[in-house]
Amino acid sequence: MINEIDKKIDKIDITEPCPAEEPFRQYYFIKKARGYYRELAKKAGRNLTCSIQTYGCQMNVRDSEKLTGILEEIGYTSSDSEDADLVIYNTCTVRENANRKVYGHLGIMKHDKETHPDKMIGLCGCMMQEPDVVATIQKKYRFVDMVFGTHNVFKLAEIYCNRIEAGGQVVDIWKDTNLVVEDLPVKKEFPFKSGVNIMFGCNNFCTYCIVPYVRGRERSRQPEDIIREVKRLSEEGVKEIMLLGQNVNSYGKTLEEPMTFAELLQKVTEVDGIERVRFMTSHPKDLSDELIDVIAANEKICRHIHLPMQSGSSRILNQMNRRYTKESYLELVDKIRRQIPEISLTTDIIVGFPGETEEDFLETMDVVNRVRFDTAFTFIYSKRTGTPAATFEDHATKEEIQNRFDRLIKRVSEISGEEICRYKGQVMPVLIESVSEQNQELLTGRLSNNILVHFKGDPSMIGEIRDVSLDECKGFYYMGNLV
Ligand code: 5AD
Ligand code: SF4
Repeated sequence: MINEIDKKIDKIDITEPCPAEEPFRQYYFIKKARGYYRELAKKAGRNLTCSIQTYGCQMNVRDSEKLTGILEEIGYTSSDSEDADLVIYNTCTVRENANRKVYGHLGIMKHDKETHPDKMIGLCGCMMQEPDVVATIQKKYRFVDMVFGTHNVFKLAEIYCNRIEAGGQVVDIWKDTNLVVEDLPVKKEFPFKSGVNIMFGCNNFCTYCIVPYVRGRERSRQPEDIIREVKRLSEEGVKEIMLLGQNVNSYGKTLEEPMTFAELLQKVTEVDGIERVRFMTSHPKDLSDELIDVIAANEKICRHIHLPMQSGSSRILNQMNRRYTKESYLELVDKIRRQIPEISLTTDIIVGFPGETEEDFLETMDVVNRVRFDTAFTFIYSKRTGTPAATFEDHATKEEIQNRFDRLIKRVSEISGEEICRYKGQVMPVLIESVSEQNQELLTGRLSNNILVHFKGDPSMIGEIRDVSLDECKGFYYMGNLV
């Protein structure tokens, strides 16, 4: 079905001035970029490839799908390899080591470009929202062709045209934006499941976190736009939707007609053909009773909540500006489990926040022991310049922090190994995702609670939801059989 937007896009003529309104402006540049692509491909004597290298969270994964969608519309064929003719690094800056990795890859790219001068390199994502990073790129990495940020991913075709026309490095970074551009091409990584952004940015300013500075203020997409996207995905064969936002629980508060996240979640499950809905990430301070009720009553909503606790010490939580206490976190967990006993809870924990003492750390261990998370992602605190915590005094030594971290990982994985086995012997529906990486004869699928299962089956079943018996628990996953 060709809708109004498609009709307007068809009519765009690149010999005329460029339209001012989005997304039409970008479709104009996509058409223009096709001409540049053809010239480059002719020179190379073959079709050209592109590769997006993604770091960080699900938001970046989704942005990379948008970048690939645009580049495929221009004419590129996507590949995984950094040998591609156009490589874009979609960066993360949440911890220092993410930054270091990118500079490592740029070193290799510099060498590549000396032997393949027509190769194009792009940098985008959260790191590019940091002015000193961009200054370094402009000074020391002149060979990078395109530098853009988190707010103007949608502009890739325009930036690409600018780069070809300018003949040198193009830098296009926006400090913040209210703009949400709809209806641009997206290349899904999986045909049967997809992320959908419901909001961008974050207003929470946890004192350790750089996200509010690099992703800007919180803004929610219009519910009609979200539902329209979900309907289109469902028509394309998508069965599982992951709703994405830094803090999905505050969805809709800033809309002209406010809507709660629970209302949106319910609406998404009502779209024909959608069988599973997940969401990421929840802030404990905003997780409402309404949301718990909606999840409890609706089987399509996956039995998994990722509920970052960060620390178990109320004193440290206060220093982190998390706006909940150890006690209120534990009460929330109890409330969720009372209403949804089969729920799988996972979390994020930071060790070594400035001023964390052994007593504070033992409070974290206490919460870990009491809640018994199915999985916990553990991080050593990383100082991010520009955040409030970067100016806090640091008390523990590197060795003390490493020691706490090691104790935490050990305990978290012991518990995880025990907890994940609680479903042994049950039969549960599995969304079949791929052929197993370890054994070509096995398929890999995911339970509603996000746990992985491997079992014998035919690759033609990928994308289907099938019942599987969870016969053997291997600690972090199951070996099962189709029933
Ligand atoms: N240092 C360590 N971990 C961090 N996170 C966010 N900022 C930092 C930091 N400065 C962790 C939090 C968050 C996850 C995505 O990354 O645990 O939930
Ligand atoms: Fe960072 Fe806190 Fe926002 Fe999460 S809620 S993105 S940790 S500031």
